[in-house]
Amino acid sequence: MAVLPIRAYPDGVLRRKAQPVERIDDALQQLIDDMIETMYAAPGIGLAAPQVGVSWRVFVVDITSGQYPNGVITAINPELSRLEGRAQADEGCLSLPGIYGPTPRAAEVLLRCTNRAGEAVEIPAADLLARAFQHETDHLDGRFFFNRMGPVGRDIVLRKFRRAQRQR
Ligand code: NI
Repeated sequence: MAVLPIRAYPDGVLRRKAQPVERIDDALQQLIDDMIETMYAAPGIGLAAPQVGVSWRVFVVDITSGQYPNGVITAINPELSRLEGRAQADEGCLSLPGIYGPTPRAAEVLLRCTNRAGEAVEIPAADLLARAFQHETDHLDGRFFFNRMGPVGRDIVLRKFRRAQRQR
């Protein structure tokens, strides 16, 4: 396994729609292992393949940050449905390090995807897990959390990010 470099906004791979995965092969298993290691090393609670430069529809999420051996969820070709309710909470992203902002999301979702064993699974989620699923699915469509905010919130996030970049 390897910790991969994480792409930062405004890298182009983060701004395009990722391709559906057609085959669960050794290369994909390797990518998933590396994504999990990269997420834990960051540390973060979710990571999408475009964030490590791979334009495939895959993400990993672990809202327990590696506390439990089976805490990690791998979603291949995810689809969200039954988006219900509204919730607002501060959100951040490993591709915009150190920047957070209040982001509206559905409070509950149903995630349908293929797991790494090739099985079709459905995972109902609420609260933080629902938020993580929406955030990572957005990455596969070239969207960032600030795209879910109004124009004022988005400007604040992008201004903070540019200021942080200049100070680096
Ligand atoms: Ni993110």
